[in-house]
Amino acid sequence: MFCWANDVAAARLNLGYRPIDFLAHKERCESFGKDQTRVNFAIRKLGDTTIVGLVEIMNISPVHRSAEIGIRIGDEANRGGGYGKEALGLALDFCRNHLNLNHPQLIVLSNNARAMRAYKAVGFRREGLLRKAVFVDGAWADFIVMAVLRPAQTKRGPTVAPLVPTREAEPAAA
Ligand SMILES: CC(C)(COP(=O)(O)OP(=O)(O)OC[C@H]1O[C@@H](n2cnc3c(N)ncnc32)[C@H](O)[C@@H]1OP(=O)(O)O)[C@@H](O)C(=O)NCCC(=O)NCCS
Repeated sequence: MFCWANDVAAARLNLGYRPIDFLAHKERCESFGKDQTRVNFAIRKLGDTTIVGLVEIMNISPVHRSAEIGIRIGDEANRGGGYGKEALGLALDFCRNHLNLNHPQLIVLSNNARAMRAYKAVGFRREGLLRKAVFVDGAWADFIVMAVLRPAQTKRGPTVAPLVPTREAEPAAA
């Protein structure tokens, strides 16, 4: 995880590069467990204990029932093999079933085609464009905002008659 945090090429696909030393990285990781606004998961292949990537659910808001999702498959050799989509699907299940979130969202650099394909495959849809929002590797870049909304709950049909003022509902005097 420390090596991934200092991977310049991957950082260029994310939010730009800023080196981090081992102690600062360790402290950051240790703080995750105490932070109620985030849940971090490691991604592993079935039957293998090695971590191949990370999914983060951040800025969890119980008021707005929203959160932001971030993902990284650590090594290029493991990318493009479907692990990202599967992990995102599991993270979305967790958001719905355990955090009761309605609106998981994320931001992605507009040139990160592979990430956008993976997000789209699990249900994220483009919601907007933040023009020249970030400075990455010597140039301004656009962010695309994507979100996945929970399917609308089916409305129940009416089960009571339309309400009427109580005076009108009184039986007429004999
Ligand atoms: C983005 C990332 C998490 C996706 O995970 P992954 O395991 O590589 O992705 P998957 O294999 O599950 O799915 C990738 C999708 O993009 C497509 N794809 C693969 N390589 C591609 C490429 N070079 N360009 C465009 N699309 C590509 C795949 O066909 C698949 O789409 P499909 O389901 O419509 O066929 C992973 O590539 C990664 O960590 N990249 C580096 C860091 C990064 O970009 N993080 C996201 C920051 S917002």
